[in-house]
Amino acid sequence: MAVKPVLKMGEPLLFQKAVPVEHFDTPQLHALIQDMRDTMAAMDGAGIAAPQIGVSLRVVIFGVGTNPRYPVAELVPYTVLINPQVTPVGSEMEDGWEGCLSVPGMRGIVPRHARLQYTGHDQYGNLIDRMASGFHARVVQHECDHLDGILYPMRIKDMHNFGFTDVLFPGQDVQDD
Ligand code: NI
Repeated sequence: MAVKPVLKMGEPLLFQKAVPVEHFDTPQLHALIQDMRDTMAAMDGAGIAAPQIGVSLRVVIFGVGTNPRYPVAELVPYTVLINPQVTPVGSEMEDGWEGCLSVPGMRGIVPRHARLQYTGHDQYGNLIDRMASGFHARVVQHECDHLDGILYPMRIKDMHNFGFTDVLFPGQDVQDD
């Protein structure tokens, strides 16, 4: 379909709570997911949420394959997740660097639940029910936060750990999201 412009932090729609999808396997939903896929691929992102392309629906996609721009990242299965529910498993938190296509050129250290269960549906209405940990769990939490109007800088505990990518990681080719 099309690569869409990604809304940047400050845009009111990014701070809204997105609404659930009510009908699966519709042309409109498939078109939305194709736009998200195209936009994520064009930006080399690890994930994207529908509000980031201006659609306030509870839809996220994510996935990390063997991407040379993520040499150390763990693989994350390519997933379309609609109306997600995220439930932490245990109380362990982990700090890790994050970026976001809506906050270009910056990175920050964000505490996230180390393990979680997530459920939801794919675009055809099939149930998804998975356990995740580490980077996979981090990506799920980051993307699902977008559906509640939360961007990762709002979760940074120590603002000393927030800055411009080229200053934090000089000479490295680090991803925005
Ligand atoms: Ni993001």
